[in-house]
Amino acid sequence: MTQIDLDFIRSQFPAFTEPSLAGWGFFENAGGSYPARQVVDRLTHFYTSCKVQPYAPYPASEQAGAMMDESYARLAAMLNVGEDEVHFGPSTSQNTYVLAHAFRARMREGDEVIVTNQDHEANSGAWRRLADSGIVIREWKVDPETGHLNLGDLDRLLSDKTRVVAFPHASNIVAEINPVAEICAKVRQSGAVTVVDGVSYAPHGLPDIGALGADVYLFSSYKTYGPHQGVMAVRREVADRLPNQSHWFNAGHIRKKLVPAGPDHAQVAALAGIALYTDAVHDHHFADRPGPAERARRVHDLFRAQEVRLAAPLLDYLAARNDVRLLGPRDPARRAPTIAIAHARKGEDLARALGAHRIMAGGGDFYAVRLIEALGIDPDHGVLRLSFLHYTSPAEIERAIGALDRVLSGR
Ligand SMILES: Cc1ncc(COP(=O)(O)O)c(C=O)c1O
Repeated sequence: MTQIDLDFIRSQFPAFTEPSLAGWGFFENAGGSYPARQVVDRLTHFYTSCKVQPYAPYPASEQAGAMMDESYARLAAMLNVGEDEVHFGPSTSQNTYVLAHAFRARMREGDEVIVTNQDHEANSGAWRRLADSGIVIREWKVDPETGHLNLGDLDRLLSDKTRVVAFPHASNIVAEINPVAEICAKVRQSGAVTVVDGVSYAPHGLPDIGALGADVYLFSSYKTYGPHQGVMAVRREVADRLPNQSHWFNAGHIRKKLVPAGPDHAQVAALAGIALYTDAVHDHHFADRPGPAERARRVHDLFRAQEVRLAAPLLDYLAARNDVRLLGPRDPARRAPTIAIAHARKGEDLARALGAHRIMAGGGDFYAVRLIEALGIDPDHGVLRLSFLHYTSPAEIERAIGALDRVLSGR
């Protein structure tokens, strides 16, 4: 198995040579990652040389439009979906909000939507609000000890009235990787549509959405080394059935139909940088060059293997402490490296104390209030969360463990 070349990886991120960040260990990646050089370069290029209204008949505008088109094409190919199945909106929260509205127009009173209490509010609240207009909301509840979603419970909730099942690929707190392909197959068989929040999973390797079989898959590109956008893949047949959410005259325009806001042209253009970074990683580590979906799959596996290696000592350390409640699986292979703990001290206080040791971490409820409550934790007390990516070094992990040791022991 190919091992990741960390020096090469870190050379692709300007933040790692930025003097003001030197000496800081970055452990709030689930909030937003450092951007890759390819993304920063495209954003700079766009702002410098073609920040004009795109798709008009003059060279700067043609270039702007071509850069935006390239983002659709490159990302779709890597995500293994059609180019017309990719939609870029301002954020995942806005994308789910618009989607829920669109789906509601095709539902009847008494139809059912299944949501979880494992999700970030983005893929939960927008659906739950449909209760105000007569849609029945059924909650797929986590195990209060482990935060695990049990598939048997989903079986009991699915009915011939279920229209949508909204669930996360991985939670931003317990981080367990849910069996998305299995859930999507089950839900499709029942005749409903799946809406998968991949925000907490995609930073750990771009998903093969085609293989997962999700009808809708969402993630936020500012967490996948890119600009601040929401990426949404919607299966063609599903998008075709949904009513237009944009200006009436845009109904036939697939990129606009589900995104009422005017696009942020520069950021859309910069999105291709995520694919270019993925390719740079691929070409550095592999001698041959298969198609884009396979290149993305290889890089995904490379990242995952590295992150599993990095997460093991931190998880072992936390699991061994009897003053800490480690949330989610202890086995690094079953989870994303977004590692939250509950402790007698408030999450935010612990994060602040880690800052004194030059560790950037976060504390609070991370908009997963329902999950935090289900786990028996007061959201005001919150959790401490340390989240990292493939670009994190073993030395940074060691430093984080050392800093945690001092902070948790009150030293
Ligand atoms: C798991 C998860 N889903 C959804 C969101 C919302 O994403 P956005 O900020 O793009 O609306 C977040 C944001 O942190 C998240 O962590």
